[in-house]
Amino acid sequence: MMKLIFLGPPGAGKGTQAAIVSKKLGIPTISTGDMLRAAVKEGTEVGKKAKSFMDAGKLVPDDVIIGIVAERVEKPDCALGYILDGVPRTIAQAQALESAGVRFDHVISIETADNVVEERLEGRRVCQNCGATYHLTNNPPKSEGTCDNCGHALIQRPDDSAATVRHRLEVYHSETEPLKAFYQERNVLSLVEDAGDIESVNRRIMAVLGK
Ligand code: AP5
Ligand code: MG
Repeated sequence: MMKLIFLGPPGAGKGTQAAIVSKKLGIPTISTGDMLRAAVKEGTEVGKKAKSFMDAGKLVPDDVIIGIVAERVEKPDCALGYILDGVPRTIAQAQALESAGVRFDHVISIETADNVVEERLEGRRVCQNCGATYHLTNNPPKSEGTCDNCGHALIQRPDDSAATVRHRLEVYHSETEPLKAFYQERNVLSLVEDAGDIESVNRRIMAVLGK
């Protein structure tokens, strides 16, 4: 049983690393960003509530997030643990998980400098069908513009425009970074340096997990 949180600014590689660790450990990734994007695409109630916040690079209200996560972690595939990617993102979300009795083995904060974030997100391309993530130069797909996994077209996320990215970074520093102190107090926080390629960062994460 392994319950993990991946923390870090936009573009830190939370989703990229969660996909790798998920495969290695055989536990699912729960990404609120991916769940919300799927809800927007399907036009559900949650999607309708979330869209304007996401487009503006603002946080979706805590009650919406707490609801979708509480429901997701009850699914049978979470029985052996899971990785939370992009949640919790506020102290209120962290407290809600704690009040529900959830305890984490490791909270991994990927430490990415602000000036790296813009380059990462400018070059990011994602598959709208399966959510796989690429980078034009750091992690290109085998065939340009096409997903390696499912063959669908790759797109740029609408919230990856320079102005929205700057706002997302501000929100990260003011709302989410305080979670580091929250989990430090609970002795589960590890900082992982974001240097080198995707594989080097992954090696550091696996070392923290003792794997
Ligand atoms: P979300 O989807 O969670 O976005 P984010 O936190 O801003 O993070 P990103 O997905 O942009 O970055 P990432 O760290 O996953 O990086 P990636 O692996 O793609 O949230 C989106 C929105 O949804 C929020 O703004 C908010 O509105 C809402 N939301 C979601 N959760 C919420 C919550 N809990 N509460 C409230 N609102 C919520 O990597 C980035 C790029 O870099 C890729 O191109 C990748 O290939 C490349 N890369 C990765 N690692 C490396 C490396 N080591 N070297 C070189 N390139 C690398
Ligand atoms: Mg992500």
